[in-house]
Amino acid sequence: MQLNPPRVDLRPWFLTVADLQAPIVWSRFFGNENPVDIDVGCGRGLFLYNESLAHPERNYLGIEIDFKEGRRTATRLKKRQAENARVLGGDVREAFQRLIAPQSVAVVHVYFPDPWWKAKHRKRRVFTNDFVDQVVEVLQPGGVLSSATDVPEYFEVIQGLMDHDPRFKPLPPPPEKIPEHDMDYLTSFERKARQRGETIGRGRWKLR
Ligand SMILES: C[S@@+](CC[C@H](N)C(=O)[O-])C[C@H]1O[C@@H](n2cnc3c(N)ncnc32)[C@H](O)[C@@H]1O
Repeated sequence: MQLNPPRVDLRPWFLTVADLQAPIVWSRFFGNENPVDIDVGCGRGLFLYNESLAHPERNYLGIEIDFKEGRRTATRLKKRQAENARVLGGDVREAFQRLIAPQSVAVVHVYFPDPWWKAKHRKRRVFTNDFVDQVVEVLQPGGVLSSATDVPEYFEVIQGLMDHDPRFKPLPPPPEKIPEHDMDYLTSFERKARQRGETIGRGRWKLR
């Protein structure tokens, strides 16, 4: 008796950090020299899907620790046969340390990172001092870190880390777009938060 159906092979749209040994060479990975954006914790992949469709001149890698979500996003990308978007299943901290080459990324996006409300779980938060150091390592000179959250206290932490970091120059936050249809949002979490009427904290910082 078969309990689980065999997993669909989603390669090259879905790979895991365990599948890769050496730092990724983007030109081989995507088959072109276009700039690379990384979406940290891409979740359901609304951003990855829409941005990669709107910008065929760029490449997009989502990194997602929840394989179920990552595979779901990759399935949508595969359906579209998207050539410029991939999902990497795993912890962004391991990916940045082991697989993303220094000074190779144009933009790092961190949208609606898990807030981990309970004090005893705070150390699981992605956006920390060490994470910022990793971002500095992987960004190209002049590269950008872009973030948004609906958690005011977490946004203060992010601003505190970024606004006072001499390695970065704050950029004006992107204007809030008026949605033209029900799915016209930056990400799924932005959609939920804005439909609840919550204020979104947004920031962008450029590596000097
Ligand atoms: C609150 S959701 C936001 C998802 C998406 N960015 C959005 O705005 O709709 C946070 C996502 O980050 C992922 N995540 C949390 N910690 C992570 C880590 N260390 N590495 C990669 N992904 C992570 C979670 O699995 C989850 O999908």
